[in-house]
Amino acid sequence: MNTRRLAALLIVGAIGCARRPQFTEALMLGGQTVPPETLNEGHDAYMHYCHACHGEKGDGRGPSSPGMRPPPRDFRTGMFKFGGVAAGEMPHDVDLLALIKNGLDGTPMLPWDLSDRERHAVLQYIKTFSDRWKTETPGERLLPPLPDPWVGKEAEAVERGRRLYHLSGVEKDAAGNPTTFFLSCNECHPSYLTRDDLSALSQKVLGVPPKFRDDLFRPVLKDGDYLAGDYKVHVLPVDFLFHPVKNGTSLQALYRTIAAGIAGASMPTWSSIKADDLWALVHYVKTLTDLRGTPQATVLQAALGLPGH
Ligand code: HEC
Ligand code: HEC
Repeated sequence: MNTRRLAALLIVGAIGCARRPQFTEALMLGGQTVPPETLNEGHDAYMHYCHACHGEKGDGRGPSSPGMRPPPRDFRTGMFKFGGVAAGEMPHDVDLLALIKNGLDGTPMLPWDLSDRERHAVLQYIKTFSDRWKTETPGERLLPPLPDPWVGKEAEAVERGRRLYHLSGVEKDAAGNPTTFFLSCNECHPSYLTRDDLSALSQKVLGVPPKFRDDLFRPVLKDGDYLAGDYKVHVLPVDFLFHPVKNGTSLQALYRTIAAGIAGASMPTWSSIKADDLWALVHYVKTLTDLRGTPQATVLQAALGLPGH
C-alpha cells in the first residue's frame, strides 16, 4: 500500500472514530430522559473542550492534568463542590450549567464560552461517567430567602457576622435559653481580629476568653476527598484577604456557597443556621472579599502580624 493511500485511510479512520456514535439509546440521568443525539453531541463537545483536563474516561486524568492543583474533577465520583445543594447531594442542571459558563475563579477551570445547546449536551454527557446519576435525583436547591433582612442595616449585619464567624459557643438570654449559636469559621479559615480584639469580643459576648488555635491568622490545611492520580490532595480553606473565592462573591453567591458547604473539602453545610444569621455572616464575609487586593487589606494583615504581604 502506498503511503498516500495509507494516509487517506488513516484520516478516514480518524474521522470515522471521532464521529462514531457512542450512544444509540436514551438514558435516564438524574431523573431526566436524555436522548442519544444529545449524548453524542455532548461527547464530541467534551472531547473538544474538556477531556484535556477531565480525561477521556472522566476520571480527571487528562493529558494536561498532572500537577494541576486543585486536580480536575473526577466525574466518576458524582461529587461536586459547588452544586448549590447540601454538600453530598446531586446538583441541578441550572447550577452546573452556570458553573460551566462562569468557571471557578483562580483555578484552571475557566469560563467556557459554549452555546447553550452544547453546554447542555456536555453536562448530560459528563453525567454518564457516574452511576450516581442513574439512581439519584437532585437535592433541594439552597437559595437565599429574600429579601435580605439587613438592607439599610448593613453595619449591624457586619458586626453580627463578625461575631458569628470568630466566636464559638452559645449565647443565652437571661432565662438561659440559647439565642445564638456561634459558628467559629476561624477553626479552619483565618481570624481577622487581633488577639486582643478577639479576647475582648469573647469576654463581652460570652464572658469567657476565646480558645486560640495555633497560627490563628492562617488557614488550616484540611484533608480532602479529591484524588490527584492515586493520592488524596489536601485543601486549603480560603484566606479571604489573600485567595480568590472560586464560586462568586456576590451576596447571593456567597449565601449559596456557605449554606451548601463544599462536599469532599471538609467545609460543612450550614443550611441549619437561621436565615438572618446566615445573611449577616454573608455580609461580613463580603467585606473581607471586597478588601482583597486593597491597601486596607495590607493594613489589616500588618495589624495581625502577617509578614510578607
Ligand atoms: C484546563 C483544565 C480544565 C478544563 C479544560 C476543564 N476543566 Fe472543569 N475543572 C478543572 C479543575 C481543576 C476543576 C476543579 C476545581 C476545584 O476543585 O476547585 C474542575 C471542576 C469542574 C467541575 C466541578 C465543579 C464542582 O462544583 O465541583 C465541573 C462540572 C467541570 N469542571 C466541568 C467542565 C467542563 C464541562 C469542561 C469542558 C467544557 C471543563 N470542565 C473543562 C479543570 C478544567
Ligand atoms: C472544617 C473546616 C471549615 C470550616 C469550619 C469552614 N470552612 Fe469554609 N472552606 C473550607 C475549605 C477547605 C474551603 C476550600 C474548599 C475548596 O476550594 O476546595 C472553604 C471555602 C470557603 C469559601 C469559599 C468558597 C469558594 O467559592 O471558593 C467560603 C466563602 C467559606 N469557606 C466560608 C466559610 C464560612 C462563612 C464558615 C463558617 C460558617 C466556614 N467557611 C467554615 C473549610 C471550612
